[in-house]
Formats: sequence, structure tokens, C-alpha cells
Amino acid sequence: MAGNSFGLLFRITTFGESHGKAIGVVVDGVPAGLPLSSEDIYRELMLRRPGHRYGTPRRELDVPEIVSGVFRGVTSGGPVTVLIWNRDVDSSPYEELKYTPRPGHADLQMIRKYGFDAWDYRGGGRASGRETAARVAAGAIAKKLLCSLGILIIGYVRSIGKLRLEKEVHDPQILLRARLSPVKTFDPEFENKVMSLIDEVRRRGDSIGGCVEVVAFNVPPGLGEPVFDKLKADIAKAIMSIPGTVGVEFGLGMRLSEMLGSEASDSLIVEDGYVRYLRNVQGGIVGGISTGEPIIVRAYFKPTSSIALGIRTVDIRKMREVEIKVRGRHDPCIAIRAVPVVEAMLAIVLVDHAMRCGLISTDRLTLREVKNIEKYWDIYLRYSPPIDKSVEDRG
Ligand SMILES: Cc1cc2nc3c(=O)[nH]c(=O)nc-3n(C[C@H](O)[C@H](O)[C@H](O)COP(=O)(O)O)c2cc1C
Repeated sequence: MAGNSFGLLFRITTFGESHGKAIGVVVDGVPAGLPLSSEDIYRELMLRRPGHRYGTPRRELDVPEIVSGVFRGVTSGGPVTVLIWNRDVDSSPYEELKYTPRPGHADLQMIRKYGFDAWDYRGGGRASGRETAARVAAGAIAKKLLCSLGILIIGYVRSIGKLRLEKEVHDPQILLRARLSPVKTFDPEFENKVMSLIDEVRRRGDSIGGCVEVVAFNVPPGLGEPVFDKLKADIAKAIMSIPGTVGVEFGLGMRLSEMLGSEASDSLIVEDGYVRYLRNVQGGIVGGISTGEPIIVRAYFKPTSSIALGIRTVDIRKMREVEIKVRGRHDPCIAIRAVPVVEAMLAIVLVDHAMRCGLISTDRLTLREVKNIEKYWDIYLRYSPPIDKSVEDRG
């Protein structure tokens, strides 16, 4: 199976299956001198952790263990390996499901491509949403490195089904509140509406799609290359590799395709002796290169395909059409749990490009950079849920 690695200079390789012993990530290209603890990573993992009412009831602690690349609390320059043990594994529903591939999941394609006997049918194997925990772990390292440039990456749920937040808010202090929300939104009124919608969908045994917006603040101009390695192309690939995504857009996005040039045009202005974009219609990237305006990305997710309502499929032993009801533990809405995953993938691409143009070293960090990291990382910490006591349950 190819394609388990992503990135050029800041390169991640994820490993593990949903119901295997552990999942994890090897991160290559981390400079020496970055203060890094498992708690830093755990705080980010807690944002995607299942086990609350608006996610799957699968109860994973997701306590990370750093097994290489950190010496005395600081990165050594070697590959950083993070392990996350799978604990709350119940593979029994998948025994019944293995001959009846779920149409919206990767099952049939995995069987056809790798062979039925090699296919780890338990919980989707490599194609499981659980793999994204490893991306979030790598994303924590990427986010922390980006703090050296003062870059903050903040995501939130923008819409669930047809329920959409109409406000355009691009103030980091407000958006950060989404980190503390069970449904990842900064707006209390929208939060209530989302919670009742998810409750209703779950009661019906159904699922629902949604959209996540992520904004990267303080990105310097100049990240990205003008031809194949356009920043937007790399971000699009990073986001479209997240399971369950159906689309990605920047700035005004698809709406631009319905506009006249006169409606869509941006203007260059001078502000404090600096050339800026007035409207940021393209979301911080023009010509494949960051403009210095906030990068605004939206990722669209389909409704979770495993639902308790009936799904038509084929029993591949008998080659007969049948109806299945997926009994396992599933997310009613992928978009909510995907917020930290989209943030992580954006962070990974930005670090990689910052390294490519020499703004972050692959060798070592300077003292000034470490000071900046502490300052900006503290902003995330102030908007992190308290560490769950179950973190002590290491075993
Ligand atoms: C955080 C997260 C959680 C997910 N949880 C589920 C789930 O509980 N049930 C499910 O059927 N799919 C879930 N998915 C989506 C599947 O992994 C995905 O649909 C599948 O791998 C097929 O890939 P595709 O939808 O990109 O084509 C989840 C995805 C993410 C990112």
C-alpha cells in the first residue's frame, strides 16, 4: 500500500489500523530545539476525541506517547514518533459486515485492490477516520512550529446540513472559542441549533454532512510556488486526503464562479505603509503564493455513510443484494470531529512551505523563535479544554 507519507521537508508518515494495536505518526524534518511534550499533543487530540454526545460513542482516551525525537523535553532533530494506543476496540459488528461492503465506505475498493484476505475489515482498517488522530498529533507539532512565525490556525464548524452560520468573523480571539465548544462553533446561538439538529439526526439513526472553515492568521507573503506546487494545490490535496471530504474552497470559493469580474474583483490598498488586499476574496493565496492576508479554507464533508437506517448493498459471498443496518459506533457528523484534522493538515502544509522558503529551519530553532513559540502556543493553551483526569490512565 503506497501513499502513507505526505510533505517534502516536513514529512509525516502515519501508520496503524482502526482496530489494530496502535496508530501513530513519524514526523521527519522537525528542527532541534522545539519544546515538545505529550501534553502538547494530547491537548490537540482531545479536540477530535470521540466519546461525547456529538461524536461516536467509541471511547478512546487517545493518550499519545512520544517514543523518539525528544530529549529532555526538547526535539533533538531526529524523527519524532508518536504512538496512540487503541483501547476501546469492539470489532464484533464488523464480523457480520465483512461480506456486505458499506457502499459509502472504502470496503469494496479495499477488497478489490488488496484482496479479501489482506483486508483489515475491522472498523475500516487504514481507511478509518481513526487514522486522522495521527494527523492531529503531527499537526500539533506543525502548529507549534508555526508559532515561531506568529501563525495561528483556528477552525470551526460553518454549517451542518442546511443550517449555516451566516456571520463572517475573522477575529482570532472570537474564533478560538470554538475550541471549547462540543460542536466546535464560536457562536452560542448557532451552537444550540447545531446541538439540537445533531440530537435529532442521531435519534433517527441517520447522519448529516457539514462544512468546516479554517483560518490561518499572520501568514507571511511568499509561501508556495507558482506552478505545480501552488500553496492552494498542496492545501487542497492535504484536505481532500481527509476521509469523508467532498470539496475544498478558498476565500469566496465556488461563489466566485457565479460572479461577474466586477463583483469578484479585489483591490490593492496601502495600510500603514504596507500593500494589502481590500477584500481578500481569494482567501490569502493568489498565483499559488500566500499574499500576507489570512488564509481562509473551507472543507466540505459528506454525511457519515455508516448509519443505523437500512443501506442497500451486496452480500459478496452469495452475490445477492441485501439490506444492512450498520450497528457499530459511528459519528453522526464527521465535520464536527474533523475540525482539528483540517487545522492539522493546513498546518502541515504551511510548515512544509515555510521550510521550503527558509522561514523555518529544518536544523534548529533560535532562542528568539522559541520565545515566540511560547508566546503564541500559550494562546492555544488558554483556549484548550482542561486535561482530562483519564490522561493518567497510561498502562
Ligand atoms: C474524524 C472522522 C471520523 C469519521 N468517522 C466515521 C464513522 O464513524 N463512520 C463512517 O462510516 N465514516 C467515518 N468517517 C469517514 C470515513 O472514514 C470515509 O468516508 C471513508 O474512509 C471513505 O472515504 P471517502 O469518504 O473519502 O471516500 C470519518 C472521517 C473522519 C475524518
